[in-house]
Amino acid sequence: MEKKKESKLIFSGVQPTGNLHLGNYLGAIKNWVKYQEDSNCIFCIVDLHAITVSENREKILDNTREVAAAYIASGIDPNKNTIFVQSNVTGHSELSWILSCHTPIGWLNRMTQFKDKAGKNKEKAPLGLYSYPVLMAADILLYKSTHVPVGEDQKQHLELSRDVAQAFNRYYNQEFFPIPEPIITGTATRVMSLKNGLNKMSKSDPSDQSRINLMDDSISIIKKIQKARTDSEPFPKSLEEMDNRPEINNLINIFSALSEDLPQNVVAQYVGKDFKFFKEDLSDLVNQKISNISTEMHKLLKDLNYLDLILKKGCQKANEIAEKNVKDLKKIIGFFEA
Ligand code: AMP
Ligand code: TRP
Repeated sequence: MEKKKESKLIFSGVQPTGNLHLGNYLGAIKNWVKYQEDSNCIFCIVDLHAITVSENREKILDNTREVAAAYIASGIDPNKNTIFVQSNVTGHSELSWILSCHTPIGWLNRMTQFKDKAGKNKEKAPLGLYSYPVLMAADILLYKSTHVPVGEDQKQHLELSRDVAQAFNRYYNQEFFPIPEPIITGTATRVMSLKNGLNKMSKSDPSDQSRINLMDDSISIIKKIQKARTDSEPFPKSLEEMDNRPEINNLINIFSALSEDLPQNVVAQYVGKDFKFFKEDLSDLVNQKISNISTEMHKLLKDLNYLDLILKKGCQKANEIAEKNVKDLKKIIGFFEA
């Protein structure tokens, strides 16, 4: 087996909340695939995060397997990387508690995702939704991860993870945790809804037309892109023109990310042409990339023994690292060792 670089440790995760979409793929999973060649990578299915929202609890097992299938179908090799389920490694919850004792409430009060998700009635929001970013810091730091590839919406949570790592290190006067670097790259770090260019493409949007699901068939993809909102202006002539046209901006960025070409080249290719041609080519492009993933996901989800075995092996690999790090942490804190 080829030798991997030891210095980098990549960690990332997706919540098993169903409806995995093009945003998850372009903003996160697609980028992970290239790290596996030269880095140690741990990819988690973060089920403890998913249960912070009551709607996500019912189909947690099916959705967990769906995310595992999406990882593998997107090209993540389970033999080269660790793929596992968060709740199978108790160190996540343990470290989350320890880190929560080093996290000032003021830091959590600034988290915009909590404000969005809790809505108007904050008093009724579960404590877990509020402390979610501490659990995310624990996920990353449990493995002493150095790099975390995510979409743009996770930037604030990652900044908090860095602050918490520094707070712990400072308190115990040790460089125990590396300070994790966010990796937010590409032209599709924030894929927007197909129905409203000001909203993020999201698993929880009640309109299925707003997103392209990784398991959509090609006819649905063509229809969704045909109906995707645009405006009445002609195709933009320059990137600057896209600034005030969020829907067009989004479609061009998706095109750019999938074709691995610069947005300005996409603009140059379609300037002066009818939107119809651009949308037809975009549908082809999305279909080319997604149909392979979708077919592979369907296949994997029919062989649960294989999928579950990967998650069991992943759990063992993750636990080996986690147990050692939790043990070292407890020593640093000075807990009694039974
Ligand atoms: P989640 O669906 O919240 O578990 O997100 C899993 C990963 O996908 C995270 O790295 C997110 O930042 C990323 N992600 C989710 N939605 C989008 C989006 N609309 N555009 C880009 N990345 C996204
Ligand atoms: N909070 C992330 C999201 O909603 C998922 C997540 C949980 C994660 N723990 C993580 C991402 C650790 C990266 C690293 O998308």
